[in-house]
Amino acid sequence: MRSIAIINQKGGSGKTTTTVNLAAALAAKKKRVLVIDLDPQASTSHWFGFDSMQKGIFAALAENVALKTIISKTDNAYLYVVPSSTWLIGVEKLLAHEVGCETILKHQLEKISSKEFDYVLIDCPPTLGVLTVNALSAVHEVIVPVETRFMALNGLVQLLQTIDVIKQRLNPQLAIAGIVPCRVDMRTKHSKEVIEQLKDTFKGMVYKTAIRENIKLSEASSFGKPIFAYDDASNGAHDYRAFAKEVIKQEQK
Ligand SMILES: Nc1ncnc2c1ncn2[C@@H]1O[C@H](COP(=O)(O)OP(=O)(O)OP(=O)(O)O)[C@@H](O)[C@H]1O
Ligand SMILES: [Mg+2]
Repeated sequence: MRSIAIINQKGGSGKTTTTVNLAAALAAKKKRVLVIDLDPQASTSHWFGFDSMQKGIFAALAENVALKTIISKTDNAYLYVVPSSTWLIGVEKLLAHEVGCETILKHQLEKISSKEFDYVLIDCPPTLGVLTVNALSAVHEVIVPVETRFMALNGLVQLLQTIDVIKQRLNPQLAIAGIVPCRVDMRTKHSKEVIEQLKDTFKGMVYKTAIRENIKLSEASSFGKPIFAYDDASNGAHDYRAFAKEVIKQEQK
C-alpha cells in the first residue's frame, strides 16, 4: 500500500483537483484507493458528494473512533473516501494540547490493513498546522502540486524544510514522490519558465506530466464528478491519466 499526502501550504495550488482526479485515474486502472479529506474546507468531500453534517475524519482525530468505521463507499467500487466536515474547523486548537497529537492519524492508519488498499491519498489543508503534520507523520510519500501561474519557489523551500523536520523527528520513512506542475498555461512563456525553474531548483523531483489549465477540471468539481466522468476527452482527463501512469510507474524503481 502506498500512502501519499497531497500537500502545499499555498492555497489554490491544485491539491484537491489532484487528489480527486489522481484517485479516480488510479481507480480506473483497478487500483483500490482510499481518499482521506483532511481539509476543514471539505472540498474533496463535496466533490464526491458528501455533505458536511457527518463528523467524518473529525471523529477519528478527536474522538478516537476507528478510521475503518468511517470509510464511505463511492459509486466507484475501487474508490473509498473518509470525508471531512465543518467539525474539523477548530480541531487544530483542540488537538494542540494533546500529548502526541501529531501522530493520531498515523496510529489510525496503521490499523487499516495494507491489503485493503493499493493507495491512500490524503488531501491536506493550505496550512502547515497540526492537521498537515498529522498527514506527514502518517504517510510514506508526498506529492506537491505547484500552481505555475505564480512563482511559488519561496513557499516550496519552506515546505521542503518542514518535510525534512518531520522526517527527522516523526517519520524517518517520509519521501518526496514528486512535484507536479498544475494549471500550466502552455500559451504563456511564464508557465514554461516556472517549470524550467522548478526542474533546475528541485532536480529529479519534478514529474514529467504537467497538468494544463483546463476549465473542464473546475466545472467537473461543481458537477461533483471526477474529470473522467465529466469529460473524458478533455485535456484535464488526458493529463490526470498520464499523471496516474507516471505515479504507478514509480513503483517499478
Ligand atoms: N488544471 C486546472 N485547470 C483549471 N482550473 C483548475 C486546475 N486545477 C485547479 N483548478 C481550479 O483552481 C482552484 C483551486 O484548485 P484546488 O481547489 O484544487 O486547489 P487547492 O490547493 O486544493 O486549494 P486549497 O488550498 O484552497 O485547498 C479551483 O477552483 C479549481 O477548480
Ligand atoms: Mg483543497
